[in-house]
Amino acid sequence: MNTVAVVGIQWGDEGKGKIVDLLAADADVVVRFQGGNNAAHTLVVDGEKFILRLIPAGALHDGKVCVIGNGTVIDPLALVQEIDNLQRRGRLRDDSLLRLSYDAHMVMPYHRAIDQAREAKLGGHAIGTTGFGIGPAYEDKMARVGLRFDDLVNFASFTEKLERNIREKNLYLRVLLKSRPIDAREIAEQMRKLRRRLLRFLCDTPAFLSQAIADGKRVLFEGAHGVMLDIDHGTYPYVTSSNCGASAVFGGAGIASRDLGGVLGIGKAYTTRVGGGPFPTEIKSRLAESLRTEGDEFGSATGRPRRIGWFDAVLARHAIRLNGMWGLALTKLDVLTGIDPLRICTAYEIRGKRYQEIPPERHLLERVKPVYEELPGWTENIVTARALDQLPANARHYLERVSALCNVRLAMVGVGAARDATIVLQNPFES
Ligand code: IMP
Repeated sequence: MNTVAVVGIQWGDEGKGKIVDLLAADADVVVRFQGGNNAAHTLVVDGEKFILRLIPAGALHDGKVCVIGNGTVIDPLALVQEIDNLQRRGRLRDDSLLRLSYDAHMVMPYHRAIDQAREAKLGGHAIGTTGFGIGPAYEDKMARVGLRFDDLVNFASFTEKLERNIREKNLYLRVLLKSRPIDAREIAEQMRKLRRRLLRFLCDTPAFLSQAIADGKRVLFEGAHGVMLDIDHGTYPYVTSSNCGASAVFGGAGIASRDLGGVLGIGKAYTTRVGGGPFPTEIKSRLAESLRTEGDEFGSATGRPRRIGWFDAVLARHAIRLNGMWGLALTKLDVLTGIDPLRICTAYEIRGKRYQEIPPERHLLERVKPVYEELPGWTENIVTARALDQLPANARHYLERVSALCNVRLAMVGVGAARDATIVLQNPFES
């Protein structure tokens, strides 16, 4: 396959960054196609830690082209800061290595203000958003009042649209959300300063990608978040405001469906989520605390502690079916070392009825009694394993059960945080 999409099968934070970084070595182009800086990848390269929020992980390999597609919502200040930070550290040396779609939408300070004020108002019913303005920015896109990078080309017309938006948003902020209004002149001035820096990255990204694919280049599409946070297929309303599955590649990067070779799902060997919403396999005992510490389960974007649960094969099957996944990369297997017994959720029981799939009445997710299969654990350190036969028999058995219960081929297994701490069974670019 020359074109591969990487998609999270849980609630994000599956460790996609590490797998994308690993696959980026074999790719020519790496593309973000949805979401914004609500996503974050933490990557450890040669002992150096990088957090990428907007720029695809290809930036950590020399000479790879990074594309930010039209389906994303981008905070321009955060983007410039991320570019500057990477360039200071010797990455993304040449500006031509970053291509930004004219049609990507901008996240403006009023989006952040609305997101945060709404969440504060919701109190106990809050979604638990990152507070980075993602939902309000997508709302404006759909309402056709959003500002795109294309608008920066003609700054006079940009300022006019910005002022019109801010007049309306300030009314909403002041009257309904009882929050502080935004100063239009301050934002216009900030954008005037950023504009020149941003314009040089603008590109007709769908045309660029279509040419790259026609030339036989390898293209990696880097999904953000996970299928359970998908606006249509996740645990609505406790989701993000974009489609997070492979179908978003076509709209969000502007490529034809025939041009996507396959989809690699990424799942963690257990489950986590940040923010509110149902979580059938959540662990409420002290074990959650030790897994959180061992797995460093704190949000990369916000630092919030993540909720922890057992691997949920019902969720995984849902994501794998929806995305027609070619294979699965299971990450952070090493974090389960020392836990005995281990559990995998194989089905749900709701009011005495057994479900093999997520119930169509999603509100029932709040009432799930998970059906668990117990498996024996292992105590050996597995961080240096680079082949399946270097794993303890119980770890291999755990992997076999995940693969069988999810009905998907296991393509990779993560055994540690470092770039090379991965067992590669099958590389999608080589299949
Ligand atoms: P928003 O995307 O900031 O609107 O947040 C909506 C929900 O998605 C919240 O529960 C967030 O914690 C969650 N979320 C958004 N992006 C990520 C991610 O990359 N990883 C994990 N959770 C995320």
